[in-house]
Parts: sequence; structure tokens; C-alpha cells
Amino acid sequence: MSRPFLIAQISDLHIKAPGVLAYGKVDTAAALVACVKELNRFAPQPDLVVISGDLADTPTAEEYAHLKRLLTPLEIPFAAIPGNHDDRTLMRAALPELGYAQAGGVLNSARPLGDLDIILVDSTVPGSNYGMLDVATLAWLETTMAASSTRPALLFLHHPPLVTGITHMDVQNLRNADALAAILQKHKRARLIAAGHVHRAVLSVFAGIPAAICPAPNHAVALDLDASMPPSFKIEPPAFHLHAWFPDGGFGSLSTHSVPIGDFSGPHPFFDESGQLL
Ligand SMILES: [Fe+2]
Repeated sequence: MSRPFLIAQISDLHIKAPGVLAYGKVDTAAALVACVKELNRFAPQPDLVVISGDLADTPTAEEYAHLKRLLTPLEIPFAAIPGNHDDRTLMRAALPELGYAQAGGVLNSARPLGDLDIILVDSTVPGSNYGMLDVATLAWLETTMAASSTRPALLFLHHPPLVTGITHMDVQNLRNADALAAILQKHKRARLIAAGHVHRAVLSVFAGIPAAICPAPNHAVALDLDASMPPSFKIEPPAFHLHAWFPDGGFGSLSTHSVPIGDFSGPHPFFDESGQLL
């Protein structure tokens, strides 16, 4: 079996200015420090980290500067797309090395990783919490997906194009999901749709393609499936997603692991030195 390609996805970092807590309660900087530590010690080392939006929180240039300092120890190359808490101009200025496809405006990008194409789509609408792929992004995505009929692709965007049942988040999801579905059904090479925004792990299917929402390293949106509940968050176990692409078997295959962030007991061996089960 060939070595898998490993793409770690971290999402919704919500970095504030130094010393400022999100919602007056959440130390998002400390959460990112722990997340970077977990990524750096993971073996084998992932090939790429994708940050799927909400890098900053308010946002301000100071928050992006803080984010850059917190990401400096990360030993793995990273790519990023904006979320509804980001500002395209500030984010582009803070991360000029990320090489976005367009010189201004939307922050789309694509890169090869072995036999895979990693496609990052800007789903943000300036000044709004909901998502929408604008005309420029739809045209770019159509061209990018049409560039090959054989290479498998993983597609990342901040806003889920699907319903989770958490009503106050679902109203902010991707509004023109039909336009995305039309492109993906025309160019049938996407193997995963990976989103953020909801701060919790969700598995789904979109346009016949597996879809996943990535948990956050900090706070989680509460799992309220009762529409009458007020929007709220909980401090749940922090985690990120690790997408493992196995290129063998003709079509290849993908497994997504949820990786808890933190120090836990173990690893403990199953067997003693003589091979006996302990
Ligand atoms: Fe977020």
C-alpha cells in the first residue's frame, strides 16, 4: 500500500488581540497553542494543514498579527480560506505567502498534493454571516474543476452547503449550494467536501459526495436540535480533522479521523514482550 497523504484540517480559530477572551470566556490563543503542539507531535507528520476559516474574530490587523505569531511554531505548511469572521483585505495582507488565485477580492486557491488536488473556496460575503459563492468564485471553481477529468480533489470551504439541524447555524450556511452542486456533478472528481463554521464534527453527504464539518480547537456550538433554544456554545473536548488519502485501488479512498487535542493517558501496549495479550 502506498503512503497516505495526510491533510490536517483545523477550523474556526477566532484569534483575538493578546489577552482578550472570546465571548469573555474562551482563551482561543491558548487553544491554538495546544492545537499547534498536537499537530507538530503527530507522527507521521501531515503533509499540509488547511485552516477552514475564522482565523481572526473581530477582525483586526492586530488579531492577524497575533495569529501569525501563534502559527510561527507550526512545522507543517499551511493553507487558509476565510470565514465570516475574517476580512479578505486584512487576511491577504497578513498572509501574502499563501498565493491566492486572484490578485484582489476573493481568497480562492488550489494546489496539487501527489495525485490529489486540494481546492480551497472562499464562501464569505463581506459584512454577512451567511455564505455564498460569488460570480468570480463560481467561474474560478468551474475552470479549476474542469482542469482535469481524472485527478481526485478535496474541496474546502468555510460555510457548510448542508443542513445540520442546528437552526441558528443553518440559516448562515451556503445560500447557493445548488450552484456548487451543479459544478461538482458536472466535474465528478471531488471526493470530499470539508467545511467549518459549526465548531463541531458532523458527517454528511452533499451532491452525492461525502461531506464533513470540522470541530474547533476551542469552543463548540452547542448541539441544540430544538429550534426554540437560544444560540449558545459549550466547552467540549477540542479536536481537529485528519483526512488520510490512500491513492491505491483505482479510485483511491479517504478516511477522516477526528484527533483530540490534549494530553491523555497512553499509548499503552496491548501485548507484552512475549506477544501475550496483557
Ligand atoms: Fe467560527
